This record gives sequence, structure tokens and C-alpha cells, in this order.
Amino acid sequence: MKKDTLAEVIIVPDAAAAGALVASRIAALIVANPATVLGVATGSTPGTVYAELARRVQRESLDVSRVRAFALDEYVGLDAAKPESYHSVIRREVTEQIGLDPANVRVPDGSIERIMTAGTEYDAGIVAAGGIDLQLLGIGRTGHIGFNEPGSSLASRTRIKTLAPLTRIDNSRFFASVEDVPLHCITQGIGTILEARQLVLLAFGPEKAEAVAAAVEGPLTSRVPGSAIQLHPRVTVVVDEFAASWLEYADYYRHCWQNKLYRCPDRRDAP
Ligand code: PGA
Repeated sequence: MKKDTLAEVIIVPDAAAAGALVASRIAALIVANPATVLGVATGSTPGTVYAELARRVQRESLDVSRVRAFALDEYVGLDAAKPESYHSVIRREVTEQIGLDPANVRVPDGSIERIMTAGTEYDAGIVAAGGIDLQLLGIGRTGHIGFNEPGSSLASRTRIKTLAPLTRIDNSRFFASVEDVPLHCITQGIGTILEARQLVLLAFGPEKAEAVAAAVEGPLTSRVPGSAIQLHPRVTVVVDEFAASWLEYADYYRHCWQNKLYRCPDRRDAP
């Protein structure tokens, strides 16, 4: 294994600390390149990052007028105007909260009529934008990144997928009932995600611990789509103590972070 391919794992006290840390990294990218292209995730996890970025726009005059953003995924067959759609979630939590230009924000098209071509067009849009500079990721209890459920090809492109039953249960909190959670989604593929220049995966809470450990330290396998991050040369995993609790090398990651060994030289050096 190349020495620079190991994930940087940062264990933080809570989601607020993660939000501040990741927002700082994103803000630095935007200052260096005002037309930064962000890959944005939905779900509960990235909320503190968006809130902290919004604070920096309002209080520190961070200029996001040229920032572009691509969402990871969308439900199929759910009216984009519905509040549960990821078009709506991204508009509320990213575009409006941070103050991005709506013309600069894209979400995959989940309409049934366009589903066979929407993925290819979405990937072409990312390429036309120059590629994603920093991709934010959550991870599901199934090990999914985006909505790439177990069994997804590690080379996959943006396409229609079927949601795992556990994901529909987990996401039912945003719907009236689990039956209302769509069966299908359109999601950036794992191959698409891996083309981003930098990945930042966030996870909080004990229910994510098993998936985080499998993604970071387990074997590379399509059974745990999150394990594909191990293929990326520049990935940072930011977790709270609960989500870190299954990591075999947690003490080593803490040691690296505290001693500013940002690229852990080799896991075999672990204490
Ligand atoms: P969550 O979802 O942030 O709502 O936990 C993460 C995911 O399913 O990828």
C-alpha cells in the first residue's frame, strides 16, 4: 500500500467541533479559489458544517458568490417541490442557509421520465464544472456513501439504485411513515465520488461505529461501499468518540492528530 493512501482520522468531541473544523477547511479552499466546487451531502450529519459556513459568510464576510455545489443523491419519483426531496433539503440547508447562488447548485434529477439519462448528464455537469474539489460524505448504517448500498460497484457512475430496507427505516424519520420513503434513488456512483479531489467523511453517534470501522479499517469490498474511501489518496474522516468506538487504531489516530502527523506514516507503527 502506498504510504500516502491511509485515511486521516480525526476524533472530535462532538458534531459542533467537527462543523468548525470542516468549515475551516472549506473556507480556506474558498479563499484560495472563490469558484470552489463542493460536493454536498444531505442527512443529519453535515448540519453543523453548513451552519458554521453560514456563520462565516455572515460574520466573517466569506464570499461564496462563485462557489458551486453538487449534491450526492435524490429520491426517484418524489416531487422535487416536496419538503422531503433532496432538492428541497439542499435548497433549505445549503443554498439558502449558506447563501449560495441557486444557479450554482445542482441536485440529481429524480423524475421518472428522465431517470435513464439523468445520471450521465449529472456526471457530465460535474466534469464541465472542473470536477469536485471537496466532497462531503456521511455514511449510512448499511455502510453506504451517497445512496450506494452494499453490492454497488466500486466503479459505478451516477445512476438509479434501490434503497436498502435499513436505509428506508433510518430515513423514515423525515417522512410520515416508512412506506412513504421512496424505494429508489439516483446517486452519484462510487467511481464518481472517488473523482473528487478530496473526501471528507463525517459520522457521529454509536449507531455509526460499526460502519465507520468497516469503511476505514475493514477490507475493501462492495459489501461496505464506504470502504471505497481507502482507494482515495486524500480522505479525512471526522468522527465523534461514539462513532470512533469500533476503530481498532483510535489511539493511533489521536496520537497522529495531536502531534500533527497529518499523514500517518504506516499503520504498522500503531502503538
Ligand atoms: P445521516 O445519514 O446523516 O442522516 O445519518 C447519513 C447517510 O445515510 O449517508
